[in-house]
Amino acid sequence: MSSQLIINCKLAGVHKQQGPLRGAELAELPCIEDGWLLIEDEHIAALGVMKDIPTSLTTHPAIDASGCWLLPAWCDSHTHLVYAGSREMEFVDKIRGLSYAEINARGGGILNSARVLGETSEDILFDQAWKRLHELSRLGTASIEIKSGYGLTVDGELKMLRVIKKLKQRSRLTIKASFLGAHTYPPEYRDDHRGYVDLIIHEMLPVIAREQLADYIDVFCEKGFFDPAETETICRAGMEYGLRPKIHANQLNLSGGVQVGVKLGALSVDHLEMMDDASIAALKESDTIGTLLPTAAFFLRMPFQPARRLIDAGCAIALASDLNPGSSPSGNMNLVVAMSCIQMQMLPEEAINAATINGAYAMELGAVTGSLTPGKRADLILTRPIPSLAYLPYAFGSNLVDRVIIGGELV
Ligand code: NIG
Ligand code: FE
Repeated sequence: MSSQLIINCKLAGVHKQQGPLRGAELAELPCIEDGWLLIEDEHIAALGVMKDIPTSLTTHPAIDASGCWLLPAWCDSHTHLVYAGSREMEFVDKIRGLSYAEINARGGGILNSARVLGETSEDILFDQAWKRLHELSRLGTASIEIKSGYGLTVDGELKMLRVIKKLKQRSRLTIKASFLGAHTYPPEYRDDHRGYVDLIIHEMLPVIAREQLADYIDVFCEKGFFDPAETETICRAGMEYGLRPKIHANQLNLSGGVQVGVKLGALSVDHLEMMDDASIAALKESDTIGTLLPTAAFFLRMPFQPARRLIDAGCAIALASDLNPGSSPSGNMNLVVAMSCIQMQMLPEEAINAATINGAYAMELGAVTGSLTPGKRADLILTRPIPSLAYLPYAFGSNLVDRVIIGGELV
């Protein structure tokens, strides 16, 4: 058995509680001021305060992390990490004044990425995704959800999901896959929505289920994309195969996506830039997690998600990066946490909990990772020496992540 000991550090996220944190609980980030943590193989074996360290460990070789914080690694519960190429030309169009909706309407956006994906081999797609995943692991992400949705044909969606499956098999990160065939209507189905929904339900889903390529079903529930009735039909078809919904809701409009998600018992409803009292009331009464994606709001110059209203209403919220080529070309969770504090008035403790333990629950990994709890996977971030935990989001843009440990191994 391999074991590693980290001593003289501050520990954050020493949670005992089960279940996602909601409302005022989100600000509770249990810490140990002067602590130690023992890793055995891929798990956290034990932790505690330095003055009570067991005598059996006093001669154990150790990393002396004086002045540093040890945190759970980031749990990024919403990404589109697998995509082909990039879309910086649309970024320039946006600078010149076009909106995201206008770019989509003229065949850019998701359709642009779908075209490039169609011309990209599975091996090249895998290599591009692998590099991104490696970069994110160095920034502290150890668990990640990845969506399909740039295929939009049977072959294209299967290609993406097979790449995600290969990433799952080869990477140390814990990965969950969501099938997002309903990302947009491909051009040939623009006037035949029923035809595309049928393709998803009768051609894509059976193969995906047979090859066990997805954990969740996702739909972009949005004006001009999939309406609440279509969203429900597609999600119910996925649920027949055991895929729980995790849906894109209320990004550009009050789409009704939150209510559909809650009605279907979705694991999460994600984005939530546009929330009214009725959507907040629906979410707070449910077990569905509201996942906020501030870097997407930032990149599209949209209003930020109303995190304070959601927390104060008692909702369970998570933070994620939405990494994708169109609305969040960064998957840096350190930036997500900083932006949530700066722009959404989340306390550093709230943002860290939302990006770790609640993110883990938004991938059904809450019992496995997301906190410094003995028995969980040793998915850890060790910071550089910093004066306080609030310094992390405060000094945004500095890379304060010194070492990342995923499943007990240094990356
Ligand atoms: O989550 N909103 C829909 N899907 C992505 C963006 C996709 C794209 O522009 O490529 C999102 O923001
Ligand atoms: Fe997204």
